[in-house]
Amino acid sequence: MKKIAIVDFGGQYTHLIARRIRDLGIYSEIVHPESFEVNDDIIGIIFSGGPQSVNAEDAFRINLDIVNNNIPILGICYGHQLLAKMVGGEIESGENKEYGFTNITCQTDAILFNGLEKEQKVWMSHGDHVCKLPKDFKITASSDSIKIAAYESEKYFGLQFHPEVTHTKNGMQMLENFVTCCTNERNWNVKSFKQQLINEIREKVKNRKLVLLLSGGVDSLVALELCIQAVGNENVYSIHIDTGFMRLNESKEILEHFDELGFKNIKIIEAEEQYLKELYCVVDPEEKRKIIGKLFVDIANKELVELSKKDEFLLVQGTIYPDTIESGSTDKAALIKTHHNRVNEIEKLIKEGKIIEPIKELYKDEVRKLGEELGLPHKLVHRHPFPGPGLAIRVICSDKTETEDDYTKEEKYLNEILLEFDMQGKILPIKSVGVQGDFRTYHHPAVVWFKEDASKSWNVLNECSSKVINKLKTVNRLVYSLEPVGDLQLAKLFLEKQNLDELRNVDAILRKRTDDIKAIWQMPVVQLPLRNTEDKLCYVIRPVCSMDAMSASVYEMDFDYLKDIISEVQKIENIGDIFYDITTKPPGTIEWE
Ligand code: XMP
Repeated sequence: MKKIAIVDFGGQYTHLIARRIRDLGIYSEIVHPESFEVNDDIIGIIFSGGPQSVNAEDAFRINLDIVNNNIPILGICYGHQLLAKMVGGEIESGENKEYGFTNITCQTDAILFNGLEKEQKVWMSHGDHVCKLPKDFKITASSDSIKIAAYESEKYFGLQFHPEVTHTKNGMQMLENFVTCCTNERNWNVKSFKQQLINEIREKVKNRKLVLLLSGGVDSLVALELCIQAVGNENVYSIHIDTGFMRLNESKEILEHFDELGFKNIKIIEAEEQYLKELYCVVDPEEKRKIIGKLFVDIANKELVELSKKDEFLLVQGTIYPDTIESGSTDKAALIKTHHNRVNEIEKLIKEGKIIEPIKELYKDEVRKLGEELGLPHKLVHRHPFPGPGLAIRVICSDKTETEDDYTKEEKYLNEILLEFDMQGKILPIKSVGVQGDFRTYHHPAVVWFKEDASKSWNVLNECSSKVINKLKTVNRLVYSLEPVGDLQLAKLFLEKQNLDELRNVDAILRKRTDDIKAIWQMPVVQLPLRNTEDKLCYVIRPVCSMDAMSASVYEMDFDYLKDIISEVQKIENIGDIFYDITTKPPGTIEWE
């Protein structure tokens, strides 16, 4: 099969590039720079981004005879710099790291910008940049901060920004223009991939049975249906572990859904007490994930041992692409987080060949397409995604009441930046996870609000969010408050039933009020270890628009509607300030952890 090879230099978006190429109807495959060899099937090559500096001694290189083969090559971000260096260009390590929206001016007669306007809004995420190119190379785009934002020569193309993320409005067209340089054929799609996946399951399973751990989310549901269609209802068994981190009535609803679909082989295991006991007083997000993952495997293993007394079983996981890549896809990729289905115990089972992950090549929207191809009801396939560790990563735990960090200086700087937006703000004494330029961050959120007589606008909020996060190293996330924020006190907060019940109630009300808003792709509700002046706990709502969770933009809720839903929630006793997350991904992840 003709394909485009994506060389993975450890960037967070490598698989997203591959995915976009498939969306354009061409099969794409991710390859490792050290083992990659060109063959007749490869009609194009893309060098991905990566967390390193091309000038670093231990940076990823590729041993590829780019001169003597006639295959078009596109370099993106790190790949753009590496390709430039390979052909004799020079790279400068930048003082000004750039993350976020940037305007570029491009040459409309350039191949990659064919059909596009001169001014383009793109998504940058880099430290270094190309400062010199060989003579036969043409600079095809520049921004205010870098002269060489894009280049091309006969068969080499470079983009400093990321065309693959949805923030780059016309990124798909740029990729399409590259693909057209490689081929005019377009023949890959989810429908044909479905049969390939079914065949692969049959081949791996042979005459064994399958056990699937149902989380209740879209992924495990689609994986279950795929397995049933591959090996038959009677050969598939499923287990749902109720961790205590599910949303209100969620486990009950899952059972009802499957009953409606006619699946009977489901066992529910009540494990709330066990989870809460093991997680008591645990604060670190990575540690929480590891404990949850390990316990999940222990409980599942116990069940498997019982089942295996009768038959030989393989464990099915509904892992999808983002789950695998954020756990570090290559040895040089930075770890963003350990997904619960990539903890050590699971890795061991994968190596032993005891796990199959039939949809691990797919992104969320592809999983949904596959679900529809398999004939699953629309309302099930289009539910908001819900993470495996559930509400456990939506309670920001704390074992302190005083912060150790002093950020008085940063807070002063924050308020200087906010002057131009007619806003004020403060840095919060807590931390949340984020992702910037292929690295995981664990920094402070800042809360901002408009001054009394300022007029509220989403344009201002978006611009402010990107500016503050670019300028303030200690801040990786911005939240907005409709009202001025008074003193906030750091409070102890652990994964305890009472807090979780409170979060469940807040989440249920907010979901009910926003369920009909189609543009919201997912809406985590997060409990913070912060008490306001009335000693009440504060929360964050994080409604995002996304296609595949790899990148996300902020849903711009009508301010009056926001006020209305917040006041409904605040009718519950003990609910304090409710903030609205105004951070895109990147630099903020969707979940706070
Ligand atoms: P982040 O927070 O990385 O999340 O922007 C991207 C998407 O993945 C979901 N998520 C998870 N799903 N196990 C899962 O099954 C996990 O450990 C996990 N962590 C995050 C998240 O809800 C979002 O849709």
